[in-house]
Amino acid sequence: MTESWEGDTTAAWAARWGIPRLEVHERIGSTNDRARELAEAGADPFTTVIAEEQSAGRGRDGRRWESPPSSGLWMSVVAPGQDAFGRLLVPLRVGLAVCRAIERAAPGVRAGIKWPNDVQVEGRKLSGILCEAGAGAVVIGVGINVRQGALSPELSSVAVALEEVADGLVDRAALAGRVLFELRELVTQGPVVLDEALGRELAERDVLRGRRVAAGVGGTGIARGINRDGALLLEIGPGDVRHVVAGHVKIHDQ
Ligand code: BTN
Repeated sequence: MTESWEGDTTAAWAARWGIPRLEVHERIGSTNDRARELAEAGADPFTTVIAEEQSAGRGRDGRRWESPPSSGLWMSVVAPGQDAFGRLLVPLRVGLAVCRAIERAAPGVRAGIKWPNDVQVEGRKLSGILCEAGAGAVVIGVGINVRQGALSPELSSVAVALEEVADGLVDRAALAGRVLFELRELVTQGPVVLDEALGRELAERDVLRGRRVAAGVGGTGIARGINRDGALLLEIGPGDVRHVVAGHVKIHDQ
């Protein structure tokens, strides 16, 4: 663990961001695992773990998440516990928070959401989100590719780093601070459906709407938006609209 990051102490960053504690690791297995340990030990909400490098960064469904040194923002946040229904919306709320933070840190970039929680820019994945519930808390893991070197050659056709699309260099500390700010706005113990304004924002950011997609669970059809309870609306045929609540989707019209 290191006591300083991006030109200041971790205590100073924590005070500036209004969070109870920031841990920064030069190298760790997974920030989500460390945040879960802290949550189990009773850490306060918004306790945050950042790593310069993860040796076992995890994506959804047990996939590996490439997290090379100093090239992205790899962070996990202990969020307040949610009831079973509220929990369904957490990944979407986090997706919105990450989109807003990215646009703030890199003016001119427009971020979209590929349901359930990939953040895309210009059709390529910029950020992945891994929310894991347990110990009376939800651990929110956010990975944002920032520097050009963040991506291996195999990933560069499907993924993108923020500095490839931004106008200049991106300040990772400002990005992290903004993610935390937006998470505090959006990940609340709030209602189990999105309010109208968030529903509208999600619709504007929904990159699947109108596209032909295959859902791992639910079949193949045309994406017709995201319901206020977080389900993907999938039109399989005339009058047959299914509510997909989990799984991956693949775009099939390309
Ligand atoms: C995905 O798209 O599959 C989710 C990727 C989540 C990656 C982040 S990086 C910080 C945190 N620690 C992890 O091990 N995973 C998440």
